[in-house]
Amino acid sequence: MTILAIDGPAAAGKGTLAKRLAAHFGYDHLDTGALYRAVASRSLRTGETPEHAAERFAVGDLGAGDLRAEKVAQHASVVAAVPAVRAALLAFQRDFARRPPGGKGAVLDGRDIGTVVCPWPDTIKFFVTASLEARAKRRYEELIAKGESPIHAAVLAEMAERDARDAQRATAPLKPAPDAILLDTSGMTAEDVFHAALAAIAGKTR
Ligand code: CDP
Repeated sequence: MTILAIDGPAAAGKGTLAKRLAAHFGYDHLDTGALYRAVASRSLRTGETPEHAAERFAVGDLGAGDLRAEKVAQHASVVAAVPAVRAALLAFQRDFARRPPGGKGAVLDGRDIGTVVCPWPDTIKFFVTASLEARAKRRYEELIAKGESPIHAAVLAEMAERDARDAQRATAPLKPAPDAILLDTSGMTAEDVFHAALAAIAGKTR
C-alpha cells in the first residue's frame, strides 16, 4: 500500500497538493485537519469536553456546517494539544492509511502524519511550508473568494498564533519527519508544487 504523508503549517498548500496527488494516482485522500475541526465543532456545540467529543466522534461530524470557520480552526488547535484527543483519532487515521476505501493508496495531510500517524520508512513524506506572509495572503484570498470580508492583519495574527500552538505543544508537535522531503512553496504556484512533488516521488520509487 502506498502512503503519501503531507504535513506543514496552516495554508501552506497541503490540501491542494494532497487532492492533486490523490487524483493523479487514483488514491484516497484524508484531510486529517477536518477530524480535529470536527471534534472542536462538536465540543463547542454540545459542551462535551474535547476528550468526550473525540471518543464520540463519528464520520457524520465531518458534515458540520462550521468546520471551516476561524473560531473552529482556533479551537481545533486547542483540542489537538490534548493527548487523549490525538489518541482517540489515531486508529481511524491509521486504518484509512492501511486500508483506503479504493484499495490503491492513501494520501493523508495534517501536522503529524509523517512523525506519528504513518512514521514507517516506506511512507513517502512531504513537509510543505511557505513564509507566514505568503500563507496569510493565500488564506486572505480564499476568504475573499468565499464572499467574506477578512481583515488581513487579523488573518495573519490568528495564523501565527495557531502555528505557534501547533509547533510548541508537547504531544505530536508540528515538525518535519527526519526523512521528509521539504518543499517551500512561497514563490510557487499550485501547479509548480504538484510537479515538484511528482518529481520527488519518482525519485523515491525508482
Ligand atoms: O486548513 P489549515 O491548514 O488551516 O488547518 P487544518 O489542517 O484544518 O488543521 C486545523 C488544526 O487541527 C491545526 O491547526 C492543528 O492544531 C490540528 N491538526 C493536528 O493537530 N494534527 C493533524 N494531523 C491535523 C490537524
